[in-house]
Amino acid sequence: MDNFKRRDGLPMEFDGAEAAAGALNPDREPPQEEPARQYYFIEKCRQHVSEEGRRLGHPLTAAVITFGCQMNARDSEKLSGILERAGYVLTDSEEADFVIYNTCTVRDNANQRVYGRLGFVNSMKKKNPHKRVALCGCMMQEPSVIERIRTSYRFVDLIFGTHNLFKFAELLCTMYESDRMVIDIWRDADRIVEELPVTRKYPFKSGINIMFGCDNFCSYCIVPYVRGRERSRRPGDILGEIRALAAQGVVEVMLLGQNVNSYGKNLEHPISFAQLLREAEQIDGIERIRFMTSHPKDLSDELIEVMGSSDKICRHLHLPLQSGSTRILQAMNRRYTKEQYLALAEKIRSRIPDISLTTDIIVGFPGETMADVEETIDVVRRVKFDNAFTFLYSRRTGTPAAAMENQVPREAAQAGFDRLLACVQETAREQVARLSGQTRAALVEEVNPHDPSLLTGRLSNNIIVHFPGAASLIGRIVPVELLENHGFYFIGRMTP
Ligand code: SAH
Ligand code: SF4
Ligand code: F3S
Repeated sequence: MDNFKRRDGLPMEFDGAEAAAGALNPDREPPQEEPARQYYFIEKCRQHVSEEGRRLGHPLTAAVITFGCQMNARDSEKLSGILERAGYVLTDSEEADFVIYNTCTVRDNANQRVYGRLGFVNSMKKKNPHKRVALCGCMMQEPSVIERIRTSYRFVDLIFGTHNLFKFAELLCTMYESDRMVIDIWRDADRIVEELPVTRKYPFKSGINIMFGCDNFCSYCIVPYVRGRERSRRPGDILGEIRALAAQGVVEVMLLGQNVNSYGKNLEHPISFAQLLREAEQIDGIERIRFMTSHPKDLSDELIEVMGSSDKICRHLHLPLQSGSTRILQAMNRRYTKEQYLALAEKIRSRIPDISLTTDIIVGFPGETMADVEETIDVVRRVKFDNAFTFLYSRRTGTPAAAMENQVPREAAQAGFDRLLACVQETAREQVARLSGQTRAALVEEVNPHDPSLLTGRLSNNIIVHFPGAASLIGRIVPVELLENHGFYFIGRMTP
């Protein structure tokens, strides 16, 4: 779970759009076109928020609680931007007057955590009846979830989904003007609405959506059902956003999509992801470019070439393997074999020797045996992943894998998982150890929350280093000598 911090004086993105939107007088009819319509509702919300604040005798506070992936984190920044514009003071405490949970449903434990938070917030709402609670994000795209909330969590004030997030200001107004649960869920998105306000978590780095949705339909995965069909943003809009961020002092951007390697294929004027990266690299002020996530089946030689020859594109590639068994990969609908994955990893490592390769792996997919897990372990040993996120398979309603008859019992999956995890930790430790004694550039991200004498920085290859230094260095890129290897991070020292 990732809460939002308020950063005073943080510039909002896209100030120009508001001026261009014109018709902001909330006493007039709302404009039909977007995003002007939403700027109109933001003004209208301001009236509700200030009236309620006056009634309660304090400025209203709001907390956005985020579950799930980078894409949800970026969506939460959009929600925060609108809340802040509407006059709320942002906090990360669920004690806030308005709490919104941005949910994830990729695995069942993500759902269970949301229900747990709802139980907790309900008890707070009983003490403070003026408190308002909203739910949005991937979980809300599942009809069974909506049914459960409607019947068992009747205290929730507002529910919306992933496709109409841009309408948040309008929905907030409806919430204030209604005394019933407001629910608005769309089946899919018909457009991409640009230029709404954003409040970033970090002033010096930012995620940027380059595409939405996913068309891959891996047989275990719910994302295509809750995020809809793949849609790419226009390159001009993306590059314009990166330029605006650079002008505000952002030095690192992360381009976000479920499968960035298929970026641009369906645009009116098609463009490849590698071409987009080439253009993004030209933008002055941006020092580092990251991206998530790459599907192995679509990773082009052109991309490897662009990465290899770039000073700005980070030395990190997250390349989800999911399984090392060709038989299981086929059942997963991943569309590559064990051998193809190994050859790809080899090609990347030989062209970009200092790259860090990380991955995602699922254990316990229907029909998986210990022999299949051994195949996965074989890939882990051969590729030597710098890090790997391992997940126990979670059965997601509506996905093809959920209907497969050969579901693996929990204990068997757990045994495979434990074996794999031990192996993953071993290779990761060995990989990280190779950096010992080197001096590398680190982007200083924050004061270490556990030891305020230390700063926390991130290397280009995504490895974390803690080192003594002053908070004024936050947002700067500094050289750090990597002294002590602690498995997944280093303790270091800034060098002059
Ligand atoms: N688009 C990204 C992944 C998004 S979901 C990609 O294709 O790689 C992040 C990770 O969650 C996936 O890589 C997968 O390892 C894991 N995951 C997805 N569905 C899952 C399920 N039903 N059970 C367990 N893990 C799952
Ligand atoms: Fe899910 Fe596969 Fe799409 Fe990734 S590529 S979001 S795992 S369906
Ligand atoms: Fe979760 Fe939705 Fe991301 S299901 S992983 S928050 S796309």
